[in-house]
Amino acid sequence: MNMASIGFICIFSLIFISAGTATTNAFIKVQCKTENVGRYGQQSLLECVVDTTQEDVTIRVVTWKKDNKTLLVFNKEEITKQQPGYMFAEPSWNKKNMNISLLIDNTGLKDEGDYVCAVMTDSGTDDNKTRLKVRAKYKKPTINSVPETVTENADSTLVCISSGGYPEGRLSWFDEHNVEWVKSAQMEAKKTESGLFELSSKLPLLRGSTFSKYTCVVYNASGDKEDEVTFEIPPKKEELGGEKGINSASKIVAPLVVIGSLIAGLLLVVIVYRRRSQQARRHSTAPLMSDHQAVPYIPGDEADDHQQMDLESQNSLA
Ligand SMILES: *[C@@H]1O[C@H](CO)[C@@H](O)[C@H](O)[C@H]1NC(C)=O
Ligand SMILES: *[C@@H]1O[C@H](CO)[C@@H](O)[C@H](O)[C@H]1NC(C)=O
Ligand SMILES: *[C@@H]1O[C@H](CO)[C@@H](O)[C@H](O)[C@H]1NC(C)=O
Ligand SMILES: *[C@@H]1O[C@H](CO)[C@@H](O)[C@H](O)[C@H]1NC(C)=O
Repeated sequence: MNMASIGFICIFSLIFISAGTATTNAFIKVQCKTENVGRYGQQSLLECVVDTTQEDVTIRVVTWKKDNKTLLVFNKEEITKQQPGYMFAEPSWNKKNMNISLLIDNTGLKDEGDYVCAVMTDSGTDDNKTRLKVRAKYKKPTINSVPETVTENADSTLVCISSGGYPEGRLSWFDEHNVEWVKSAQMEAKKTESGLFELSSKLPLLRGSTFSKYTCVVYNASGDKEDEVTFEIPPKKEELGGEKGINSASKIVAPLVVIGSLIAGLLLVVIVYRRRSQQARRHSTAPLMSDHQAVPYIPGDEADDHQQMDLESQNSLA
């Protein structure tokens, strides 16, 4: 920046300070949209135009500021200051173009706030304010259950999470009859490092009181529904209905009964057999069961263990 342009900006600033907002300019007026809405991560447009009754107006200076930070300055035929990511919205803007809107690249939460646009033309000066609000859409929620499998005879909790939204929104639960569960659910909103919110909500399910499905809905800050997800509770066994329920139960019980009777039968055979052999040979070796217990397992010493077993089997052979 050369001395001339610094001087120019100083004079320009002085004019603004002395003129203030009280003095209205008859010839030009900066008209700004009071509020602009930008999407997080996308381009945002801050709309301002120079309204003039004159024909053939030439713009000398345009200054775009946010708080005390100067973002973009056009001064005497050229752009003299430009922060990265800020530009005139009109693709090939020039001093005859009265649309002085600002375009912000890759909008972030830091871009939210008030902006001031000041203009100096050959027919007068004016400035105006405009506001940017940033919005981020919440992602489709996810539902997980704790414990992982929900059963009818144990309490469980459904946890719904939706992240990436701004400003703070809300989660809510609905059962299969579309009845909202307001009181039992607890919601938490956490601001993540990026400034976006992560919403989570826990819905406790008491044993035996479960519906077949639950829907978690995420609402944005204006209360509009953004997305939803449904969690289906696996059907309960009794609900499968009369005969079928008995059948599925007997499928598990029947083999157990068969195995149980087989074991009982075998035991009976063994007891009877042993009684007989004990009666036959009183001096027989110790029973097989206690023989087993006599060989302790020595962990990490398997070679020895094998040797010992070999010795014993030799003994019993002898
Ligand atoms: C700013 O722009 C708005 C919208 O065009 C307009 O109504 C308002 O009068 C302007 N304010 C000033 C101070 O020029
Ligand atoms: C901007 O500057 C004014 C005075 O120069 C000061 O009072 C104000 O706190 C500053 N604002 C910010 C956001 O830095
Ligand atoms: C100003 O220019 C931008 C970008 O071309 C455009 O989207 C907007 O509608 C224009 N505004 C007016 C009032 O012409
Ligand atoms: C909420 O969603 C509605 C509909 O999509 C949208 O018009 C509104 O701007 C959103 N509000 C916020 C605060 O994100």
